[in-house]
Amino acid sequence: MVASRLAKRLLHYDLQTYGQYYQLLNNGQHPHEFQLMVNILTTNETYFFREPKHFSFLQDRIIKNWRGDNFRLWSAASSTGEESYSIGMLLAEGLGMRKWEIFGSDVNTEVLETARKGVYLMDRLDNMEPRYLDKYCLKGVRSQEGYFRVDEKVRNRVNFEQLNLKTPLPRSLGQFDVIFLRNVLIYFDTETKQEIVNRVVEALKPGGYFFISHSETLHSIKTDLSMVMSSIYQKPCK
Ligand SMILES: C[S@@+](CC[C@H](N)C(=O)[O-])C[C@H]1O[C@@H](n2cnc3c(N)ncnc32)[C@H](O)[C@@H]1O
Repeated sequence: MVASRLAKRLLHYDLQTYGQYYQLLNNGQHPHEFQLMVNILTTNETYFFREPKHFSFLQDRIIKNWRGDNFRLWSAASSTGEESYSIGMLLAEGLGMRKWEIFGSDVNTEVLETARKGVYLMDRLDNMEPRYLDKYCLKGVRSQEGYFRVDEKVRNRVNFEQLNLKTPLPRSLGQFDVIFLRNVLIYFDTETKQEIVNRVVEALKPGGYFFISHSETLHSIKTDLSMVMSSIYQKPCK
């Protein structure tokens, strides 16, 4: 997979071997190439309302009971933004004009550009309830036919920034009521998973909720989280 994805970069520079590409990455003459390589190597598959049970839990068990003053949620491997905006629609519905915000982050700069625009193909909407489409999405016309844009009611509450989960988190990140870390742990070995989970859970408020994907597990990972249901965890209250 790595070889086939990087083959086009070898072609681009007219290189014969991956060793030569490695040297090019390190010779300082192509400062943007490293990020480009990261963008090519990451797998960014995502879609609106992926794993619907998570959204039901968020809506029925978290948002409905929310009594705080500023609800903060982090989508920690946001990819092109569908996860953040799906959550945004639920929050707009449940919390309306109250204070809430979503932070989306990813290591891939290209997906973040797409996420910031919030423009998607209409045919990627299988899981979205039509009422959300009507209320929170603007259908494109003429040259934009076949696309929709997430409405600014939701977009204005969502910020995207680059963040590598393998490096220390910036202090300015603050603390979150809910963190989604879905479909990214699968790419790491156990040791790295442990480091990332420790780091991310540090940013969770006491009593906050932590979501991973149904296809992932925290079995080999040590945490003080308690399982609420499969793939949903809660940090102990102080
Ligand atoms: C398969 S997508 C998951 C998207 C979304 N969370 C979902 O479940 O639909 C995985 C994302 O993790 C990102 N990723 C991979 N390694 C990362 C890292 N070290 N730090 C931050 N994001 C990373 C990739 O760029 C990719 O966009």
